[in-house]
Amino acid sequence: MRVGLCYDLRQDYLDAGFSAEQTAEFDAPETIDALEFVLRTRGEQVERIGHLQSLVNKLARGKRWDYVFSIAEGISGIAREAQIPALLEGYGIPCVFSDPTILSLTLDKAVTKRIIRDAGIPTADYRVLRNPGDLEEFSLPFPVFAKPLAEGTGKGISAHSFVEDLEGLTLQTQKLWQKYSQPVLVEHYLSGREFTVGILGQGKRSQVIGVMEVTFKESAESFGYSYENKEHYEARIQYSLADDAEAKRAGEVALQAWQALGCRDGGRVDIRSNEFGKPHFIEVNSLAGLHPERSDLVILAGMVGLSYADLIGKILDEFLTDLPNRKIPHGLPRLRPFRSRSLRFRKAL
Ligand SMILES: Nc1ncnc2c1ncn2[C@@H]1O[C@H](COP(=O)(O)OP(=O)(O)O)[C@@H](O)[C@H]1O
Ligand SMILES: [Mg+2]
Repeated sequence: MRVGLCYDLRQDYLDAGFSAEQTAEFDAPETIDALEFVLRTRGEQVERIGHLQSLVNKLARGKRWDYVFSIAEGISGIAREAQIPALLEGYGIPCVFSDPTILSLTLDKAVTKRIIRDAGIPTADYRVLRNPGDLEEFSLPFPVFAKPLAEGTGKGISAHSFVEDLEGLTLQTQKLWQKYSQPVLVEHYLSGREFTVGILGQGKRSQVIGVMEVTFKESAESFGYSYENKEHYEARIQYSLADDAEAKRAGEVALQAWQALGCRDGGRVDIRSNEFGKPHFIEVNSLAGLHPERSDLVILAGMVGLSYADLIGKILDEFLTDLPNRKIPHGLPRLRPFRSRSLRFRKAL
């Protein structure tokens, strides 16, 4: 089949003046090479598309694909991970991974938690701070954990995320508002073990491939899986497969969350236990990083004996099995170019 590959090459954005942190989730050339290699090995004809703008140009020139494998995280807005799949949906071209609705939803961690809570799945109590008035009405017991509402890769997570009083919360919230220009999500602080759970498939077919415990070495910032800890994970983080009772429960919570949200094909759910060892949902990564060595899902897959090719192959199998159900009834027909009314009016005058 003709497959388009969409991605956000980090260097393109660095060249355009974005910072190292702003581009932290973007892709390295080796990720694109590795994905293309796996797709070609499976007999697919692969075309590298790249970012949203490049996709728009190609579509405008009449290019089409049987499906698109998009790992593009997008640069702007809470719907940024959904922009490419949504555009392709308009053209009737299916995309691997979750539906665009789910991709925008899951980047808003608070709306996601509302659904999770509604499904009866444990998640820490929370408040969303949008303006100084919300701080005055703040009512959660301390300590709490404050982070940007819609970021990834540990952005905005630091020693200051752990907050013990209203003064600290006010300071941290103002810093986050200023730096990330978005609401701040404040949650009950989960002081227990941390897990990340790899999941393949969708709905009833979805299954946990492994529960990986994330522990912090002495050199790490010990309060959480922060941006700095993620950047220097080899020195700071210890990853290990866990299958004791608490880890198994973490896997169940993650799978329930994945199913409740309607995520598809493959990804990760982050879980942390509270002070009583009860695993709670933190967030879902419906578009998880797929760097061939550094990404958590790939590390986890390796620990359960799945090579990179196996992992991508399984994600593709899930997608292709479900493809008949994902066929979009009709894409955009080849419409005639838009002609403005005012132009016709002017001609008539
Ligand atoms: N409520 C919380 N209590 C304690 N630690 C938390 C809480 N929320 C997040 N963390 C820590 O911060 C890390 C990053 O949070 P997360 O929401 O997963 O952000 P990201 O999207 O950047 O991965 C988590 O992996 C965890 O270590
Ligand atoms: Mg996370």
